[in-house]
Amino acid sequence: MKDVKKLLQKMTLDQKIGQLLQLNSNLLNRQKTDIVTGPQQKLGLTPEMLQSCGSVLNFSDAETMMELQKAHLEQDPLGIPMLFMMDVIHGCRTIYPIPLAMGCTFDPELLKKCVMMSAKEAAAGGVHVAFSPMLDLVRDARWGRVMESTGEDPFLNSRMGEAVVDGFQGNMSAPYNIPACIKHFAAYGAVEAGRDYNTVDMSEHMLREYFLPAYKAAIDAGALMVMPSFNTIGGVPSIANKHLLQDILREEWGFDGVIISDYAAIREMKTHGFTADLKEGALKAMQAGCDIEMMSGGYPTYLKELVEEGKVSVEQIDRAVLRVLELKDRLGLFEDPYRGASRHAEQMLPFSFESRTLIRNAAVKAAVLLKNDGVLPFAKDVKNVAIVGPFAEEKGIKGFWSCYGKDEECVSVAEGVRAKLPDANIVTAKGCSYELLDRDTSGVEEAVKAAAGADAVLLCLGEYQDHSGEGNSRADISLPYPQKKLAEAVLAANPNTAVVLFTGRPLAIPELDEAAHAILNMWQPGSEGGNAVADLVFGDRSPSGKLSMSFPYMTGQCPVYYNHMNTGRPLKKDFRTAIYCSRYQDCPNDPLYPFGFGLTYTEFEYGETVLSADEITAGGSITASATVTNVGGRDGEETVQLYLRDDAASCTRPVKELKGFRKISLKKGESRTVSFEITEEMLRFHRADGTFGSEPGTFSVGVLPSSKGTLAASFTLK
Ligand code: NOJ
Repeated sequence: MKDVKKLLQKMTLDQKIGQLLQLNSNLLNRQKTDIVTGPQQKLGLTPEMLQSCGSVLNFSDAETMMELQKAHLEQDPLGIPMLFMMDVIHGCRTIYPIPLAMGCTFDPELLKKCVMMSAKEAAAGGVHVAFSPMLDLVRDARWGRVMESTGEDPFLNSRMGEAVVDGFQGNMSAPYNIPACIKHFAAYGAVEAGRDYNTVDMSEHMLREYFLPAYKAAIDAGALMVMPSFNTIGGVPSIANKHLLQDILREEWGFDGVIISDYAAIREMKTHGFTADLKEGALKAMQAGCDIEMMSGGYPTYLKELVEEGKVSVEQIDRAVLRVLELKDRLGLFEDPYRGASRHAEQMLPFSFESRTLIRNAAVKAAVLLKNDGVLPFAKDVKNVAIVGPFAEEKGIKGFWSCYGKDEECVSVAEGVRAKLPDANIVTAKGCSYELLDRDTSGVEEAVKAAAGADAVLLCLGEYQDHSGEGNSRADISLPYPQKKLAEAVLAANPNTAVVLFTGRPLAIPELDEAAHAILNMWQPGSEGGNAVADLVFGDRSPSGKLSMSFPYMTGQCPVYYNHMNTGRPLKKDFRTAIYCSRYQDCPNDPLYPFGFGLTYTEFEYGETVLSADEITAGGSITASATVTNVGGRDGEETVQLYLRDDAASCTRPVKELKGFRKISLKKGESRTVSFEITEEMLRFHRADGTFGSEPGTFSVGVLPSSKGTLAASFTLK
């Protein structure tokens, strides 16, 4: 342990400001130099500032980290090591499915294991902090960054967020325990029209009820860092938002860790039209409580001036610096500035047998079977298999934000199927590209030829990994034209076809739902994707994922999500004939596939929801149970879900809210009664007037297979 308070006393103001600066690794000098050019110059950085830089992001490996750290320590008179941070989102080098897919596992333990695997790889690569978990609640599938979230539900996101924090940090005693940085605080997932970086505006009630709970859960789980979001909320950029950062995060939630700006977010406040210049940006971010500035140049250029002008106090800066030094100390960097970094471990850890088994299992469990008329699973003794579509041989299926992951290290569908069926005759045909604006259908004929005579066809469609993720919003989330044409032709040519979908977001695929006999959504499954596909389509494993985010019929329904409020005129009959009610004339209100939905190779029947009592009092609890029976022809796994509705309250409540889930395995013919405890605490909510609590009255409840069923049981809160 270092006496960081004593160290702080020895530091000059410039040295302190250096601790609050984060730069891309390529901006740092490995040798001592007095010359500053290019991007450094653009950020207004002097050689002294580069020397005193406190933290680094975006570096390529342990070797680079060690070199940079060494060069820095040789130059830094105080010998304060730098912190190295990376976006470790769904794996480091060994890549597991995207977070939206991991949400579909409804399995926080599995996610935690995957995170621990990536934390070990990251720590070996010299990473000290992971910019993860991303806890933005997402509703609008047009937004590319939905792939980074675990979905549309605050309860599920909270459980998954806790698992990620736990997986990265553990108790911070092992060399591979690294701080988690939760992001993007707050409500980045509500950008208008799903266009990235766009405006967010919402009531405090909405913010607290839906958008804040997952961040809060991760703070309660001990997350050591927070990154505010790019968006404005109520006209104020998050990085300068005192209400978010001071009132809620620091005071209400008691967070005393490090707050880091997002990339250039302080500089971008000028573009938002919120600050006149970068100097004002630095002032407002500091006043709101941003400790580290990522890639803006405002703190190093202007903080000193702002202190001299009396606008920022040295105490303010000291508080921020102390938090950074404490984090460094917590990581043991003063004793070992290279903590955990090892060229050898970095090479040896990825793709171990255990890691491959883990991520293959994760890809299997994250897959969601959206439709199946009995085509799946295919028999394993099929002789002729056709794998067609733009993702048949595509290795770019790991997903956006995959850190050090490489496409060439991913198993494609064709490779996975060849490994599973070494004796089968396997043909592949691309049919068309996955490009969004392409119109070329000249390859369709060849794909149809390949598919026509096969015993089993895997039609691999969807969206390329770089078509979701940061900056990658879409205005139309249906299949691009060539893929629609390909699907039409292949499905007509051979009914023994299963669509295998690759995507980073829910897609609008009503035509596939109508024409295909089976649709298996793999999302972007990571490095073992193709093997997981083969496990599932040939029946070695059964799908068990349930959607973490609703799939709309049409883009125009976005945002469509299950836990919405009712209207005074809800749609009660067919949308085509209903009048004067809340509906579209050309599309149902409900999504095509709702939150919590997913099929498997067997079938489960749910008995009625039974309550242990019909009244609940403050401090008391009741149980809601249902008997689930495996009535199909195979053993299977099911995620049983508890939904509640507050029937009448002082402000309107969602038509349904997920309040619990449990995964069970049932043998063919087996039954089990699954029970959930309901406490008064679970009935509390944020009222429009800012107070929080439960209100007496009736509540509807259902133990259900998805968010679609009816809440048929009822109890009263006294
Ligand atoms: C911008 C992204 O919004 C954020 O999620 C990420 O952590 C930073 N860049 C650093 O790469």
